Amino acid sequence: MSDTASESLTETYDRLWSCLESGVNVQRSPFTMLQAATLGVDGAPKVRTIVLRQVSRADRVLSFHTDARSEKVAELRRDPRIALVANDLDALVQIRAEGVASICDDEAQRRAIWQSSRPHTLLLYRAPLPPGTPVASPEAAHVAASEGAAPTDDGYENFCLLHVTVKRLDWLELARAGHRRAVFDLHESGYESRWIAP
Ligand SMILES: Cc1cc2nc3c(=O)[nH]c(=O)nc-3n(C[C@H](O)[C@H](O)[C@H](O)COP(=O)(O)O)c2cc1C
Repeated sequence: MSDTASESLTETYDRLWSCLESGVNVQRSPFTMLQAATLGVDGAPKVRTIVLRQVSRADRVLSFHTDARSEKVAELRRDPRIALVANDLDALVQIRAEGVASICDDEAQRRAIWQSSRPHTLLLYRAPLPPGTPVASPEAAHVAASEGAAPTDDGYENFCLLHVTVKRLDWLELARAGHRRAVFDLHESGYESRWIAP
């Protein structure tokens, strides 16, 4: 176990980003799957699991892939604020992020990701039924690998790349010696940090 009792806010900030980066770079990191909360169109909170796909510490951006037809995209178009949480149950660490999501319209970026994705993943975007459509059975929503293979309906238009610009990070670490919680407010030229009561 690392000795974190004397860790500074700067060191904690570094560790926090390393955790997030592990979500993309390490297989089965606790930070690969995050829970993302949005404001529902009915005003109620909505939450779901999503895979962290890219982390840019320099730009303060976390990126995700989703179906453009999904509820979350409609919600984010209406109100782009988003909250994310993930935790490492072995290290007893929780990271929360608050930010603003933008739907990437940069074709070069979208194409590059699309072309490097696994066929199995891309298949999901080819589903004719938008996520949330009622179906008679689960099978009725499945897409066969051979279906819709024409270049015009390869699902690309349903592929949505979401970039979340992080405004605030909240770090919580539970420890026998005493819990530690820090908040980081991020802006273009850096961040402000402080310890707060857990
Ligand atoms: C392990 C796991 C990983 C998931 N990853 C994603 C993801 O990366 N992107 C995504 O849109 N949905 C992902 N989902 C599905 C979402 O949790 C959610 O059910 C779906 O996107 C519909 O959400 P919405 O109706 O709120 O838009 C994942 C689900 C699980 C169980």
